[in-house]
Amino acid sequence: MIDADDFDVSAAWHVAAPYDFLRRLRREQPVFRSEHLGAHVLTRYADVRAAYGDPKRFSSAGSLTISRSLSEETRLKLGEHGSFLSSFVANVDPPVHTRLRRSVSRAFTPRAVSAMQQRFRELNTDLLDRVAPRGEADFVAEIAHEPSAKLTARFIGVPEEDEEFVKHHVKDWFQLFLSPQPPDRQLVLAESFLAYLDYVDRLVASRARDPRDDFTSLMASLIGTELSHREVVELISTILLGGNDTVPNQLGNSVLRLLREGAWPVPPELTRNAVEECMRIDGASLGSFRYATADIELHGTTIPAGALCLLSTDSAAHDETVFDDPERFRIDRPNADAHMTLGYGIHFCVGAALGRLQLRTALDTLGERLPRLRLASGEPPSYRASIVGRGLTALPVEW
Ligand code: HEM
Repeated sequence: MIDADDFDVSAAWHVAAPYDFLRRLRREQPVFRSEHLGAHVLTRYADVRAAYGDPKRFSSAGSLTISRSLSEETRLKLGEHGSFLSSFVANVDPPVHTRLRRSVSRAFTPRAVSAMQQRFRELNTDLLDRVAPRGEADFVAEIAHEPSAKLTARFIGVPEEDEEFVKHHVKDWFQLFLSPQPPDRQLVLAESFLAYLDYVDRLVASRARDPRDDFTSLMASLIGTELSHREVVELISTILLGGNDTVPNQLGNSVLRLLREGAWPVPPELTRNAVEECMRIDGASLGSFRYATADIELHGTTIPAGALCLLSTDSAAHDETVFDDPERFRIDRPNADAHMTLGYGIHFCVGAALGRLQLRTALDTLGERLPRLRLASGEPPSYRASIVGRGLTALPVEW
């Protein structure tokens, strides 16, 4: 019998390759309570999808507010911002969600997204002009992040001279809220987080006074009619986070996979599917949290009302009832895009088209410019400690 107590999302092996363990859980204990996580975990594809599709019973309200792990002193320091994400779009239920989502979606029209492709290609080319002559790099630190961070900054309207500031503080924020930290370190990170918040607050106020052609100005123009000032600040700060982190993490995971599989460079006609198969097999997001609003019976287990639940998209993406031979990487897998790494249902990632466009453009540009890319020998890759995401700390490559 499998021991569900081994489900320790903070353990290095769990982020790197939990699949044998997850397969046994899907079969023997598809729903269980994880003490490490303090949550019930859903592991089967059908259950995860049904839960995403049932926001009345699986509520998003407060599900991202991971301040659970913060010390009393840190909470005091953060004050009202301890529950900072309380009105972020991914953290609320309808009808508030419906209103916020409508406003945010205005900025992600297909036309607006495809207009960013050329710019993103240029950002990648500029970077490669600088890095390519060296013949080696740490893919994570020196290649994966810069183009996405710059594109997001441009989209939001962060001036170029402030990009470093944002990058630094976003990293601290991630650590504070998404990975367990000792109390002293929490205080330092909380300080940094408050400085970041203050920065975004001023950016929003300045765009409200003096609009430009960017996302912040568009959202600021809705203050007082569709949105509140606080909602806009939370939206901007979290979207900066999304752009600075999720796409680069997914790109790092994807390049590692493609190099290990001997699938580099990806033929352009296969890029679209390769991106989906990489998201399926090595997703940058491990799942989403929800709260049960009533007692929920599932496979003989009762999830009590009020319990926190993790919908494990990572496990779902390896579910053999949906994906044939799931541990095998198949660049032309016909249903690769059935993964839920970008979520599903009403909270489906609003930046999905932009994220996918960046991943495809990056793989194409890198493949053209660095066709001989390979893993540098040395340490096996290591992953950042996080309960919600999978991203490499470093990936030494050469060409
Ligand atoms: C490969 C990259 C990305 C991954 C893996 C990812 C993953 C996700 C997931 C799993 C959700 C659902 C959360 C839930 O149901 O609780 C989500 C929602 C969201 N994502 Fe992404 N995302 C990515 C890129 C982006 C980008 C580039 C942006 C913005 C520029 C973005 C903005 C958002 C927002 C605002 C939501 C909340 C939508 C809502 O609640 O209605 N994401 N994302």
